[in-house]
Amino acid sequence: MTASCSLCPTGPRRPERRSSLSNCFVILLVAPVLLLPIPSDACDAPNYISMRPTDFKNTYNPGETVQFQCRLGYKRITPFLPMSSVCHANNTWTPLQEACTKKSCTHPGDPTNGIVISINGSFLLGSQIEYACNEGYRLLGPKVLYCEISPIDSNVLTWSDNAPICNKILCAPPGKIANGNYKISKEEYDYNEVVTYSCNQSSGPDPYSLIGENRLVCTGNGDWSSSPPQCKVVKCPYPEPLNGKLVSGFGSKYYYKATVVFSCLPGYTYNGTNIVTCGSDSTWEPAAPMCYKVSTPTSTNPPTSTNPPIPSISESELPRTTTTPGSSHPGSSHPGAPPTSKPPSEDTNALGTGIIVVIVLGVLAGVVVIIFILFMFYRHKKKGKTDVSATYSTYQDKSASPAEQTQ
Ligand SMILES: *[C@@H]1O[C@H](CO)[C@@H](O)[C@H](O)[C@H]1NC(C)=O
Ligand SMILES: *[C@@H]1O[C@H](CO)[C@@H](O)[C@H](O)[C@H]1NC(C)=O
Ligand SMILES: *[C@@H]1O[C@H](CO)[C@@H](O)[C@H](O)[C@H]1NC(C)=O
Repeated sequence: MTASCSLCPTGPRRPERRSSLSNCFVILLVAPVLLLPIPSDACDAPNYISMRPTDFKNTYNPGETVQFQCRLGYKRITPFLPMSSVCHANNTWTPLQEACTKKSCTHPGDPTNGIVISINGSFLLGSQIEYACNEGYRLLGPKVLYCEISPIDSNVLTWSDNAPICNKILCAPPGKIANGNYKISKEEYDYNEVVTYSCNQSSGPDPYSLIGENRLVCTGNGDWSSSPPQCKVVKCPYPEPLNGKLVSGFGSKYYYKATVVFSCLPGYTYNGTNIVTCGSDSTWEPAAPMCYKVSTPTSTNPPTSTNPPIPSISESELPRTTTTPGSSHPGSSHPGAPPTSKPPSEDTNALGTGIIVVIVLGVLAGVVVIIFILFMFYRHKKKGKTDVSATYSTYQDKSASPAEQTQ
């Protein structure tokens, strides 16, 4: 309602608005003039860090005397320093030096089992102090305090808060665990005190293994250095390396942290490491001992002994020829070659050389066949040539004879 009124001012409201506007203009024009010090016969209010006029005014007339007092938190340096000044006709004050100085807070004193550190090298107004506790003790309360004017009595300086205290660090008893316990059970533990866990005797055939830290220390935060360990039966399966054998770590049972080393049969290799350890979840880590067939193409290709690679090549050549129109890299397209699992780059290499070998063999076979055919043909021809030559000679003879006959 009021908004609509101000948006659409009615007839009688308009002159009122104009008058207020013009008033505003007058104020804007006059304000700087009022704020400007009158040059000839007035002094600006004097300003000091440590003192303030007892009767504060913006300007003082010539001949006026201003009496100063120390600001809050300050005190007089000596009773002899002047604390008043006169405004002269030439618009200056009688020179005056700072006559007050900061008051000081009382020495806070070191806390029991700790120390106080002065940040500013003094306990004067505005200065800071920091508390620190000796080892094994924890600060309770604010770490930093400031020297400030007392909120109760402005003539007095006090520290911003009550001094903190240094409390002896204590740890609550650590957690209880299944199938185990710790030595020295009490209500609370001192800083750096240690408890040692051990596992109970197992009632079954296999002992309990302690997983984690058996030694817990009460630390500076009142916490234990780690969480309590676990006691449980950990038993890994007998390590029978596939395509390999154990080298060390022979035993009948493999409990937590048992380690075995294995080796691989010729032509086989392990993945990553041949040292495996029985982990907390009763499995071998990083994996159960296992050997993989060494991928062969790189080792058999360089000698180019024509006989062995032929079957594998012709076998693996099939999928390649089928996939060549689509992809030049047959990385995933190996449906018909599970035993010859080898890196794709070597595979394509093998395929390339395979084709060459096949071509060479084909050419060789062709040459042999041609030579054989030629040989056979030659033999046949030789046989025939004698006949031909015979017939020829006879023909010659005959032809000669008719010629002779004709001659
Ligand atoms: C102003 O007047 C006082 C007293 O007459 C004199 O001591 C002072 O030197 C004068 N200051 C200036 C800046 O003229
Ligand atoms: C005290 O020292 C701190 C840290 O250097 C600083 O921030 C602070 O202003 C100082 N206070 C005084 C009153 O000098
Ligand atoms: C070998 O180990 C790596 C990483 O552990 C894994 O990604 C890869 O599949 C393993 N190779 C074989 C043949 O198991």
